[in-house]
Amino acid sequence: MSEKVRVGVIGVGNMGGAHLENYAEGRLPEIEMTAVADIDPTRFERAQKIVPGIACFDTAEELFASGLCDAVIIATPHYAHPPLAIEALKAGLHVMSEKPAGVYTKQVREAMDFAATTDKTYAIMFNQRTNCLYRKLKELLDSGKYGEIKRVSWIITDWFRTQQYYDSGSWRATWAGEGGGVMLNQCPHQLDLWQWLCGMPSKVRAFCHEGKWHDIEVEDDVTIYVEYPNGATGTFITTTGDCPGANRLEITCDRAKFVIDCIGPNIKEHELWMYELEESTQAFINTAEQGFGRVPGEWKKIETDGRNDQHVGVMNAFAAHILRGEPLVAEGREGINGLTISNAAFLSSWLGKEITLPMDEDLYWELLQKKIAGSKAKTKVSAKVETDMKSTY
Ligand SMILES: NC(=O)c1ccc[n+]([C@@H]2O[C@H](COP(=O)([O-])OP(=O)(O)OC[C@H]3O[C@@H](n4cnc5c(N)ncnc54)[C@H](O)[C@@H]3O)[C@@H](O)[C@H]2O)c1
Repeated sequence: MSEKVRVGVIGVGNMGGAHLENYAEGRLPEIEMTAVADIDPTRFERAQKIVPGIACFDTAEELFASGLCDAVIIATPHYAHPPLAIEALKAGLHVMSEKPAGVYTKQVREAMDFAATTDKTYAIMFNQRTNCLYRKLKELLDSGKYGEIKRVSWIITDWFRTQQYYDSGSWRATWAGEGGGVMLNQCPHQLDLWQWLCGMPSKVRAFCHEGKWHDIEVEDDVTIYVEYPNGATGTFITTTGDCPGANRLEITCDRAKFVIDCIGPNIKEHELWMYELEESTQAFINTAEQGFGRVPGEWKKIETDGRNDQHVGVMNAFAAHILRGEPLVAEGREGINGLTISNAAFLSSWLGKEITLPMDEDLYWELLQKKIAGSKAKTKVSAKVETDMKSTY
């Protein structure tokens, strides 16, 4: 292979276009964007404007067979991610899948199992993992210094979207086209970070409200409650209907509490804070001589390395992995974890009961097929395409 990884982009909409722009702005030094494929040829004009002369193909298959690429980014609507990943791997190409890894875990399992039989890289675009706040928090949690996690609570309601957003694409917010709403489109990042930081839960109970704030058939308001194997509990609350929303992550351990939030209306940046306790909370509960005593400790702001490379960081790590075996930001197979939580959350909500993991993936698939069968085609779709790659913490 040459010194650069030759990359093709499958699907040049909002996100595919943003990947091309990162390249055109010189931010991907070990990558050469050589080709794009899109089933909608009107997308080629923008691709050509960003990367003049780039090869354009009407189908992914033609791009795979072109010999112009060593790797591809799959930036199509979600259902196509796993089948296209398998086809690309079969053609001998490395794969970067956009999030989510797929819509249902059965199809992602197929892609990750197939990838394991090849010597090619299967990676996933979990760009929020590059955020210094989450990286630092993971380092602190993994150190073991603060004891086991007792509780985690994430309020991630700053994914506000208008009806115009939902009307901007025929696939958006439909069971047939997208396979879900806020959990499949906006929250794969936080669902991944949740499991990356805290591990996988063992039980999931959820309430997913469909079309509560928008004229859509999928969920736009969700509350998930989980339990972990060690007895810890967690909640995850999300919606695209709140303005202003919030993005507050709180993790309580036996010897510390961590918070990532943007505290106060005048503070624009999110920060990581820790309340470090001088002794174990449980030991204090068991042995304190006063009923209203508190475990001594203090709040401190945690400094980080300040780096937040997002999509560029994930792509540069992908190239470095292919060229020199350096670590990826996220392996493709890790994509199944956050998706398992959202699939289990849907199943719990639809059946009205708690789901124990591992879940019944066949049942989830069957119920999803019923949703797809009842899915209504959109009558109004605006041609307007807006790009908002806002990095939500
Ligand atoms: N990582 C992130 O921060 C981030 C941000 C936005 C979107 N995404 C993900 O990127 C994906 C695309 O989202 P978007 O907002 O760019 O959608 P979009 O509708 O703007 O673009 C999708 C493009 O894929 C094309 N397409 C559909 N099926 C295809 C196929 N089989 N072969 C080739 N092209 C095909 C469409 O014609 C369209 O041009 C989604 O899965 C989304 O979750 C990720």
